[in-house]
Amino acid sequence: MAEQNTPVLEVEHLSKQYKKGVYASKDVNFTVSKGEIFALLGPNGAGKTTTIRTIATLLKPTEGDARVAGFSVRNQPAEVRKNLTYLPDEAGAYKNMKGRQYLQFMAEMYAESRDQAAEFVKTAEEICKLGDRLDDKIESYSRGMTRKLLLARTIMPKPKIAILDEPTSGLDIINALEIRRMIRELAKNGMSFLLSSHNMLEIEYVSDRVGIIAKGHLLELGTPDELKSKYSASNLEEVFETVVNERESKGW
Ligand SMILES: Nc1ncnc2c1ncn2[C@@H]1O[C@H](COP(=O)(O)OP(=O)(O)OP(=O)(O)O)[C@@H](O)[C@H]1O
Ligand SMILES: [Mg+2]
Repeated sequence: MAEQNTPVLEVEHLSKQYKKGVYASKDVNFTVSKGEIFALLGPNGAGKTTTIRTIATLLKPTEGDARVAGFSVRNQPAEVRKNLTYLPDEAGAYKNMKGRQYLQFMAEMYAESRDQAAEFVKTAEEICKLGDRLDDKIESYSRGMTRKLLLARTIMPKPKIAILDEPTSGLDIINALEIRRMIRELAKNGMSFLLSSHNMLEIEYVSDRVGIIAKGHLLELGTPDELKSKYSASNLEEVFETVVNERESKGW
């Protein structure tokens, strides 16, 4: 749950066109508070990754802006990057490195001192729970192990907000559960999260608040319970179906 109401992320009228006249995301508005887990929920092509990459300063907004810890994505991207970390959906790690070497390498990129780098590596080792396997080359890791290593890399600098695109995609139930628990625990300690997923059950379990996105439009916002009650639905899948059908009947 959000510990206090300080917005760590404020997204204001954010739009992105890759091609002129075609919106991949359109007038998206939401906020994420300290310690809050916010999830963008939508089908393939809905605009989740586009929204996330715009906030992570990897894409320039066509219209609107987003503020991370008060800094503008549009005008202060370097400041924004100091306050967030981003795990892409299809991220890879350097296969020839050993896990621990990779964490050390990434820690040195983020850290401002040797001591801080050592602290980041220690945190990452605890988070990934890979134990002795950290001394093996990443090429010998399973998909789940690689994802945990990358997640640890994303979390270790203790950003104000960690942005995780499809955090558990391709993971089995046990690994996915572990990662969801880890996210909840970190949020309890004050880290904020922006997640994306099309797995509605996962989102219902892990998120404090959800934004339903389809065809680039953020159609609904609320806690899973609020949304289920508003649409008299027993789960988020039903909410999603109703929200999209209602919008469909009104036109996009
Ligand atoms: N680099 C790009 N150039 C042109 N169009 C793009 C580009 N990336 C995404 N799009 C388009 O933007 C829209 C939104 O895509 P996006 O990747 O943001 O969706 P998503 O919700 O992340 O989907 P998924 O669940 O499949 O990851 C889609 O119509 C997609 O084809
Ligand atoms: Mg995506």
